[in-house]
Amino acid sequence: MKTRNVIDLTDLTYSELKDIILLANRIKADPGKYADACRGKILATLFYEPSTRTQMSFQTAMLRLGGTIIGFDNPQNSSVAKGESLKDTVTVIGGYADIIAIRHPSEGTAAAAAMYSPVPVVNAGDGGHLHPTQTLTDVVTLYNEIGRLDHMCIGLCGDLKNGRTVHSLIKTMSTFEGNKFVLISTPELSVPQYIKDIINASRCDYVEVSGLAEAMPELDVLYMTRIQRERFNSEEEYRKQNGVFVLDKEKLKAAKKTMKILHPLPRVDEIDVEVDYDERAKYFEQTVYGMYGRMALILTMLQKEGKKPSPRVLPTHPFHCNNPRCITQTEKYLPSVFTEAGGDMLLCRYCDGRTLIY
Ligand code: CP
Repeated sequence: MKTRNVIDLTDLTYSELKDIILLANRIKADPGKYADACRGKILATLFYEPSTRTQMSFQTAMLRLGGTIIGFDNPQNSSVAKGESLKDTVTVIGGYADIIAIRHPSEGTAAAAAMYSPVPVVNAGDGGHLHPTQTLTDVVTLYNEIGRLDHMCIGLCGDLKNGRTVHSLIKTMSTFEGNKFVLISTPELSVPQYIKDIINASRCDYVEVSGLAEAMPELDVLYMTRIQRERFNSEEEYRKQNGVFVLDKEKLKAAKKTMKILHPLPRVDEIDVEVDYDERAKYFEQTVYGMYGRMALILTMLQKEGKKPSPRVLPTHPFHCNNPRCITQTEKYLPSVFTEAGGDMLLCRYCDGRTLIY
């Protein structure tokens, strides 16, 4: 693998991603063959935000590969509660572990952690930004359940603004030719502009619609998401959005018999429980595919290299990121790093937020 860290799944080349999907399938078919593949290696899971699937499937993946695990799932039980910086935490944990999986409520945290970590870092979700190993879960599921990753009509429904799984999935599926995205949301929760720009620059297409029923007949995949309550500024704003899109048996009557229903989970109320018994529902199988995908990713990343000697710190830019949810707002020592986004715009290299040059 060329990349040391996985901040998004698009850090992997097409052939690297394909190799990981195929390795995940080989592990699934013969798990005993890989039971000692990571003997002596340690995974650290640093979860500053709640998780069921990502944290436990990372941990299970490492344990099933014969490795061991350390970490925290509540930063208040670590020295973060005493004010320790992200930089110091990953520097220290990188001296104990061989690989770090990190989840954090601030956007761009994994990219920031990777700057200082002496061991490879995997983004396990950074605020409403990206979630690459969920996308790995999704592509392993699609590859096995549909048999291809291109020329599909993919409906994404719900909180497309704050849903990090949506952003990572669109970025990755845009790299495959002929995919069409049907973006189903309220105007307030539509996909960020930088994600639309990525689709526009690809060999894929998108439409935005406001109704689930109207989108249903043409979909090969329906990717449902919950409304991300924790990303709203007020309970009132959340309540206005919650319950707008609910998938039930009645709506499914208009769908193709071959359509697959995916959901990153957790589900709140956007899929009626009766849909669980429809053979098109794949969201629980998806969680198992995710564990094999993470096994394949860990194994591949650990084969690459050991610890690196010193952190790579980039020169700071005179402008600062405007995104109030960017990690640079709280970890003040981080250098400002941008790429030019055209015109008067700068794109923050941590969170993808746009900053206007004034
Ligand atoms: N899909 C996902 O990220 O689930 P968790 O929040 O439970 O990890």
